[in-house]
This record gives sequence, structure tokens and C-alpha cells, in this order.
Amino acid sequence: MRAVVVRHYGGPEALEVIDVPVPEPGRSQVRIRVDAAAVNPVDIATRAGLMNAARPGVIRERSQVGIGWDVAGVIDATGPDVTGFAAGERVIGLRDRLDLPLGTYAEQVVLDAADVARVPDGSDSMALSTVPLNGLTALQALGILAPLAGQTVLVTGAAGGLGAFSVELAAMRGLRVIAAAGDDDEKLVRGLGAAEFVPRSADLAAAVRDLVPGGVDAVFDAAVLGYPALDAVRARGAFAAFVGTGPVPVRGIRVVPVNIHADGAALAGLAGLAAAGKLTLRVADTYPLADAARAHERLQAGGVRGRLVLIP
Ligand SMILES: NC(=O)c1ccc[n+]([C@@H]2O[C@H](COP(=O)([O-])OP(=O)(O)OC[C@H]3O[C@@H](n4cnc5c(N)ncnc54)[C@H](OP(=O)(O)O)[C@@H]3O)[C@@H](O)[C@H]2O)c1
Repeated sequence: MRAVVVRHYGGPEALEVIDVPVPEPGRSQVRIRVDAAAVNPVDIATRAGLMNAARPGVIRERSQVGIGWDVAGVIDATGPDVTGFAAGERVIGLRDRLDLPLGTYAEQVVLDAADVARVPDGSDSMALSTVPLNGLTALQALGILAPLAGQTVLVTGAAGGLGAFSVELAAMRGLRVIAAAGDDDEKLVRGLGAAEFVPRSADLAAAVRDLVPGGVDAVFDAAVLGYPALDAVRARGAFAAFVGTGPVPVRGIRVVPVNIHADGAALAGLAGLAAAGKLTLRVADTYPLADAARAHERLQAGGVRGRLVLIP
């Protein structure tokens, strides 16, 4: 089968399409014939060698690093201990490890059965491939920060993959959401449930404190702004950092690094919300698997609204 991997870290051209043996599922694993693999910023960081530069050892020295976390496809083989899934079922799933020689940018991928969820009848698998990484991260961040209904949260990068799901899931829980996004993104983020909008060109903390004197209860810093976002949080509030450890905690603010983990049951819940029209799925464009480098170029140029998806 074909897979996209990196053997030498670098720019988009470092992505190589190679032929590899079809992987076999382990005892509690399923093999998925990939229909769609969404392209995420972590894929760019991995390809460029930035994950290892930030945290030496996170990807062990090996001759080949797999790329891609998100997947939608059809199960084509199951391990002997798998009971909940069968060949032929449409699923989505998440590969939540960095240090494997194959990722979801491939014609087939093996995942733990516990890390996948069924695609609801009538749902669009390709659109659902955009959910696992960012939907689960938003959900897990909400669980960790645990804001209470009625409290106010700030979401930076609210028009992005992670930010948009954060806005929608937070609004669904009865939180008042202030969305910080590009100057042209107001209609988009209000449509996702944001009560207030702060354009990127504004002074973030000042604009937020005009809306909420004293500062917000919590921030989801999906744009990875750090201190400007921390300044918008009230004393003893909470801050979700999605890259690294985040800013130094001051004023008693709980700064929490969020690191996603796969969770098939929670993913099934998100797929159900999408099927019910409560979670908005956005595919900006599709590319053939062999054109993964072009998709990386486009994502890293910025300004993409919705996810880019690779189709094997
Ligand atoms: N720790 C974890 O478990 C985890 C999980 C998922 C994601 N992440 C990380 O979270 C980050 C966001 O991921 P993503 O998929 O949402 O990326 P994305 O889709 O590229 O979204 C980032 C958004 O932030 C916007 N932005 C940049 N600067 C801004 C500013 N000053 N004010 C307002 N908006 C601004 C970008 O707009 P433009 O495109 O116009 O620049 C873009 O819409 C990435 O660094 C990713 O690696 C971490």
C-alpha cells in the first residue's frame, strides 16, 4: 500500500509517498481502509522536525516517521480480541501517537479498536474525518477547565479547526463565548454560537475586558497567543495551552497544558452531535494522497477556513 512518511525532516517536499507492506492489526486492533485523512498543524510540525526540537525524545530516532492523526474509512480486518467492530463498518478514528512509522496519510491504517467510532448512518465520512483530533481536544479541554454554565470563556483562533469546535461545544454547555478570530470571521464564529467577537486587529486583553470587566473565567488558546490571552483571564481563572506548557501562571491562573488522547466513546458522541446537526463540519478542500505536500503548503500559508482532507 502507499503511505506518506518523512525520512528527513524539512519543508513540504520532505513528505515522501512510499510503498510499504499492508499493516496487520494486533489482537485488539482494527485495520481501516482509509477514505479520508484530515491535515492538521501537528502534521506540519512533525514533518518539519519541530516536535522533536520542542521536546527531545518525543519521536524516537527512526528511519521513517508516519504522518497524520485523523482518519475516516472502512474496517477491512479486525484482531481476534475485537468484539465491537466488524469488517465493512464505516468508522472514524484518531492516531494519538507521534512515534510510529505509519500514520493516517496512507491507504490503510491500524488503530486500537478503543480509538475508533462508528460513522452514523447517512453521515458524510469525509466531513467526519475532520472531527477526531480537534473535536476531542476541545471536549477534553472543556472537561479539564470545567467552566460552569453561565461563565464566560474566551476562544482564540475561533475560526480554526480546534477553535471552532471549542466555540460550539462551549456554547452548547451554556457558556458565554467570546471568540477571537480574523477580522472577516465574525459571521462564521457567531454562527457557531459565539456571543461576542473580538477581531484579530484589536488589542485582545483590552477588548475582552471591555466586554467582561475583570476578565474571562477561562481561555481556550487555540491560536497559541500565550500572554495576550492570559491577560484576558480573571485572577484565579483557567487557561488551556495547546502547544507546550503555555505561559507562566500569574495571578493564580491555572495554566493547563492539554494533550489529547484518543477516546472512541467520546468520539462516537461527537459523531452523534454532528449527525444531529449540532456540530459544524467544515471541509475547505480535498487533495489526492500523493499531493500531501501541496496540502501542507496551503495550510501553513494560513487563512484556510475548514480542514484540508487527503483522499487516497
Ligand atoms: N495539544 C493538543 O492536544 C492539540 C490538539 C489539537 C490542536 N493543537 C494545536 O492547536 C493549534 C490550533 O490548531 P488548529 O487545527 O485549530 O489550527 P488552525 O485551523 O490553523 O487554526 C488556528 C487559527 O488561529 C487563527 N489565528 C492566528 N493568529 C490569530 C490571532 N492573533 N487572533 C485570532 N486568530 C488567530 C488562524 O487564522 P489564520 O489562518 O487566518 O492565520 C486560524 O484560524 C495548533 O498549534 C495545533 O497544533 C494541539
